[in-house]
Amino acid sequence: MQLRLDTIALEQMETDALAVIAFQADSPEEGLGSEAARRLDQVTGGWLAEAYRSGEFTGKACETLFLHRPPNMRAKRLVLVGGGKRERFGGLELRRAAGALARALRARSITAPALALEGEAAQVRAAAEGLILGDYEPDRYKTEKKNGKPLEKATLLVPSLEAALEAALERARIVAETQNWVRDLVAEPANRMTPTLLAERAREMASEFGLECDVLDSGRMSQLGMGALLGVAQGSSEPPALILLRYRPPAAGDSVVHLGLLGKAVTFDSGGISIKPSENMDKMKYDMAGGAAVLGAMRVFAQLKPAIPVTAVIPAVENMPGGRAQRPGDVVRTLSGKTIEVLNTDAEGRLILADALTYAKRVGCTHLVDAATLTGAIVVALGHVNAGAFGSDQVLLDRVLAAARVAGEKLWPMPLDEEYKETLQSVVADLPNIGNRWGGAITAAMFLKEFADPLPWVHLDIAGTAWLEEAKPYMAKGPTGTPMRTLVQLVLDWR
Ligand code: BES
Ligand code: MN
Ligand code: ZN
Repeated sequence: MQLRLDTIALEQMETDALAVIAFQADSPEEGLGSEAARRLDQVTGGWLAEAYRSGEFTGKACETLFLHRPPNMRAKRLVLVGGGKRERFGGLELRRAAGALARALRARSITAPALALEGEAAQVRAAAEGLILGDYEPDRYKTEKKNGKPLEKATLLVPSLEAALEAALERARIVAETQNWVRDLVAEPANRMTPTLLAERAREMASEFGLECDVLDSGRMSQLGMGALLGVAQGSSEPPALILLRYRPPAAGDSVVHLGLLGKAVTFDSGGISIKPSENMDKMKYDMAGGAAVLGAMRVFAQLKPAIPVTAVIPAVENMPGGRAQRPGDVVRTLSGKTIEVLNTDAEGRLILADALTYAKRVGCTHLVDAATLTGAIVVALGHVNAGAFGSDQVLLDRVLAAARVAGEKLWPMPLDEEYKETLQSVVADLPNIGNRWGGAITAAMFLKEFADPLPWVHLDIAGTAWLEEAKPYMAKGPTGTPMRTLVQLVLDWR
């Protein structure tokens, strides 16, 4: 999609559809609270107020109303897009409203719209990201595309052209297009996204954008002693891969910060010998969403050049119950030297991340952030709205939470009290890989903490947010690409 800024007067804009945001309010006057909405109401002789009075438009979040041939305008259609309550209207709401607009346009195969904005950089960014993300459909394997025509050319109308707005637009384009690239990776079925293929995609991306990339194979992993990662991999005939990517800032060689980004990449999680029920097992192709989001973040860094060095460590495996699969009760030795009793082969994410965390410490990372579709328990706790954010260091956790707010992704802080460790007791090894029934997302995080300590570390459990079970008005059903934008914001904002 081509996206551009323009300052032409709203009534002069020649377009298939000119959209404006209007709010949920008791009176049309209040609902038409933006400069652009008031202006369009005047130009059309009150069409917008009339839409409110008729009850056909209320301004509820993501609602849309199409009005044809508005008077005194060059646009073929005028589109009202609900912004929800004005007091609660921020970046996240605008991103969603723009997403809802994109989807409503796509449903009608309208490909060249314009959206009127007030003209702050943050608005340009949220609107551009929303349009690009809303326009995405995971329909690669549909021979006949049934979801309307994608947007070709969209114009953001702003009062004046400033360098800051152009910069915001360019950054939004890079971020949102990369998020859709992440969604494509996550949407791939497991027969087309094995650890080897994911590593190939990482290599291609790295050479396209100028990042260093290394892939450790199972031989190298066993030399190093990554028994936990290899234990998970051994049940599959697909070999594992430890994908490493390095971003180094152009200037500073003196940064004291070196961020390690880790992402769980289980290309298919059957559960292994502790096999999962067949219902919904197909979804377990998205168990590599954390790894894909980290790849996406690196793809953005290569283009936007943040100030701190970042190393990505992505353990990629397939968890299968083959004849050589590890058994419940097996003991593995991790890279850290700690031994683990594998009581449940379906708690595999923490096993591969244990070795990845140790590896990140070995290569000199000073701070660690991981993203993983780690537990069903986080979905029980937080549903599909928030991802869980666990942190061993309040300063780093606050940075991540602040980044998520700016980026428009939802995180909710979760506890890590020492008491939760009490359930992680094994008679035969240093640690079991599961606790008891309760607080499963927290015991999983406590397990990871054993390997992240003593570094400041944040863990994002994205099992509930990486995949949408149902389409939203602003986003297609399927992979979301989260929490890539939070990771991007965290690093770009690092001072
Ligand atoms: N990949 C799953 C977690 C998951 C569940 C992701 C639902 C997305 C949606 C993970 O590997 C897993 O199987 N976790 C187990 C842990 C249990 C065996 C302690 C779970 O949550 O059931
Ligand atoms: Mn599992
Ligand atoms: Zn898993």
